[in-house]
Amino acid sequence: VFDSVKRVVTPLRWDGRELWILDQRKLPGRIVWIRARTAEQTARAIESLAVRGAPVIGIAAAYGVALAALRSGATAQSITHAIERLARTRPTGYNLFHALNGLRLLAARSRGNITAAIVRRAVKIHRDDARSCLQMAKAGAALMRKGERILTYCNTGALATGGIGTALGVIHFGYQTGKVAEVFACETRPVGQGARLTVWECAQAGIPCTLLCDNMVASLLSTKKISRVIVGADRIARNGDTSNKIGTLQLALLARAYRIPFHIAAPFSTFDGSLRSGKAMPIEQRPPAEITGWYDGLSAGKNFEVWNPAFDVTPAKLITSYITDRGILHPPFDRAD
Ligand code: MRU
Repeated sequence: VFDSVKRVVTPLRWDGRELWILDQRKLPGRIVWIRARTAEQTARAIESLAVRGAPVIGIAAAYGVALAALRSGATAQSITHAIERLARTRPTGYNLFHALNGLRLLAARSRGNITAAIVRRAVKIHRDDARSCLQMAKAGAALMRKGERILTYCNTGALATGGIGTALGVIHFGYQTGKVAEVFACETRPVGQGARLTVWECAQAGIPCTLLCDNMVASLLSTKKISRVIVGADRIARNGDTSNKIGTLQLALLARAYRIPFHIAAPFSTFDGSLRSGKAMPIEQRPPAEITGWYDGLSAGKNFEVWNPAFDVTPAKLITSYITDRGILHPPFDRAD
């Protein structure tokens, strides 16, 4: 399963000296690869959503530090500068900080060839994430009965990770093993990760997929037999509160109203052991044009403002279980880090 998905799509390619980034803003219409030769170029690709999804943001950032090390001969100043720059790209997803914190420690402790150590670590973060995806897929599929109909949100597939995906990886593995019959994917406004990316990934994998607008979820849950909702995560606090793509909270509330299991699928690199609850989760605000750009003649700031948070926080009490690379878990996650 893993091999067949990897052949379908990979969001990053590392050739040992440069990072190639599949520009997700252009999908599904065009396949465009961006060549990143510096940490700055990598940071811009992350900020602009050319590469997006919490796990792959962490992987890209690690390669960004590797690029800085390769270009500078790994001076302490260039490594610190690269780490600080990359840490300012997107505040919500924890995988970014998990990767950068590890690299900071590694650079401080390394003796000998620091560049080689950083490059090796970046490649390891990439490979470990691929393995985590497979572990989540197996754990998640074991929860399911035959022929399930799954609702998902945003894009959590191969494009968002180093492997087959988190929530979409579970769904994909479930489909390959006869557990999942079909998928319902929300459009995921304002950027349309569901409409542009999830639908595309499902088509590549041959998974029957139905697209719906985000405001159709209550109607879907009330009229179609949806077995469960599975989504990804950007950051999970010790008490289980979870930030994920804006709109996830609506799905969780509706799933509770219709008594449908609601699962988070995430690797341990998404768990922030320093946060007690979701209260202090940093939530990224994105540019107004992401919302107004869809309509001719609209421009924020003229006679109205725009509110565009990229993520919301779903309280743990709405989450049935956490599908992780260490099996199916329940909070508290005291030893997560
Ligand atoms: O803004 P994005 O596209 O980076 O947001 C992505 C999500 O919210 C995903 O659900 C999350 O990162 C998990 S991806 C495996």
